[in-house]
Amino acid sequence: MELNGKIAVVTGAGQGIGREISLFLAKHGANVVVGDLNLESALQVAREIEKLGTKGLAYQVDVSRKESAYGLIQAAIDTFGGLDILVNNAGITRDAMLHKMTEEQFDQVIAVHMKGTFLCMQAAAIHMRQEQKGKIVNISSIAGKVGNMGQVNYAGAKAGLVGMTKAAAKELAKFQVNVNAVQPGFIDTDMTRAVPEKVRQIKIAEIPMNRIGEPLDIAKAVVFLCSDYSDYMTGNVLEVTGGRFM
Ligand code: NAI
Repeated sequence: MELNGKIAVVTGAGQGIGREISLFLAKHGANVVVGDLNLESALQVAREIEKLGTKGLAYQVDVSRKESAYGLIQAAIDTFGGLDILVNNAGITRDAMLHKMTEEQFDQVIAVHMKGTFLCMQAAAIHMRQEQKGKIVNISSIAGKVGNMGQVNYAGAKAGLVGMTKAAAKELAKFQVNVNAVQPGFIDTDMTRAVPEKVRQIKIAEIPMNRIGEPLDIAKAVVFLCSDYSDYMTGNVLEVTGGRFM
């Protein structure tokens, strides 16, 4: 799966799953724009990428803001000369039971996951349509398929990403732009470390493969969807869950 010289943008790339995706893309030869709200962590990942022998560019972005999201995509074009791959991974949780969830908690989650993905896909699509090639991968969640208590906002946003992926896939197929989604299960990052230990253990016990997922498990699926090994796949949703909720 060679991605030599390909130019990738990854959002939420400063830590967790996005960091691992960025490093794994770089290991396969891609130059990566590391987009994150947190510039320090983005700079750190960009340095790790350079050590792997490809180019890394840290970019501070709030994907939920149009100018910022468009600036991220433009940075890839201006600095590296194009854009082949976009991975929409930035995400937040603002958990609360439905009867207690505030309007702000709802709006924030929708803004980062859905509006952020919309804006980045839109800016990327304008370029990719002209170039007649490209790969877009949206990081949804298995919560978007099965729901999750305390996550009406998050599960809704992640289900929404599936619809957005399929609509964009239909629009862009004739331009040889593939748009697919990945639905991770329970993955070991800061996001899930915030879950109380007792609940974590219950969730892990429900995984047929009997272990929590690692960010690399997700990065492998993403790199596949960014490679020419998946050229005839578009509008797909890959579940990477260790068999949970099959
Ligand atoms: P994380 O919390 O470790 O990292 C998220 C990153 O996104 C952070 O670096 C953060 O600064 C960045 N970010 C947040 N808001 C942003 C914004 N407005 N603009 C740009 N960057 C922003 O999370 P993790 O676990 O690595 O999750 C990555 C993605 O995978 C998220 O979309 C998450 O919903 C999804 N996911 C994670 C699962 C898990 O078990 N950890 C399971 C299913 C999906």
